[in-house]
Amino acid sequence: MAIGLDLLEIDRLERALERRPRLAERLFTEGERAYAAARSRPAQHLAARFCAKEAVAKALRLEAWSWQDIEVVSGDDGPRVVLHGPLAGRARTVEVSLTHSRGVAGAVALVS
Ligand SMILES: CC(C)(COP(=O)(O)OP(=O)(O)OC[C@H]1O[C@@H](n2cnc3c(N)ncnc32)[C@H](O)[C@@H]1OP(=O)(O)O)[C@@H](O)C(=O)NCCC(=O)NCCS
Repeated sequence: MAIGLDLLEIDRLERALERRPRLAERLFTEGERAYAAARSRPAQHLAARFCAKEAVAKALRLEAWSWQDIEVVSGDDGPRVVLHGPLAGRARTVEVSLTHSRGVAGAVALVS
């Protein structure tokens, strides 16, 4: 079992996405972008998902990975992670918890 944690200032991501419109497509899956776009401040939810990907990468001790291969899927009972491509099968279970306030987003991941 291993744990990973990450925090991000939401306005940092917000500014980066404004400067580089294609960045969102590189970092986030279509489903993640759609989830965020349906909410009042999309960057808040994207920032939490960015943190979730970093937290999973830390827990799995990854050095290089595709952002698209760690996907946060949101359901009524909260978020879960689906690993794709070369990461599929790297963990038996992956759990994440996301949070965001006005300024900061964060995530913790537990993998086994
Ligand atoms: C789910 C809940 C815990 C979220 O807490 P919050 O302080 O509002 O918000 P946070 O920023 O900490 O967390 C938001 C994230 O929680 C996650 N989340 C939502 N529902 C969840 C659930 N049922 N289980 C686990 N995680 C959940 C989501 O990932 C969400 O982020 P996202 O929309 O970007 O995916 C809260 O809304 C809730 O339902 N609490 C139940 C108790 C309650 O109603 N208390 C009110 C007392 S006044």
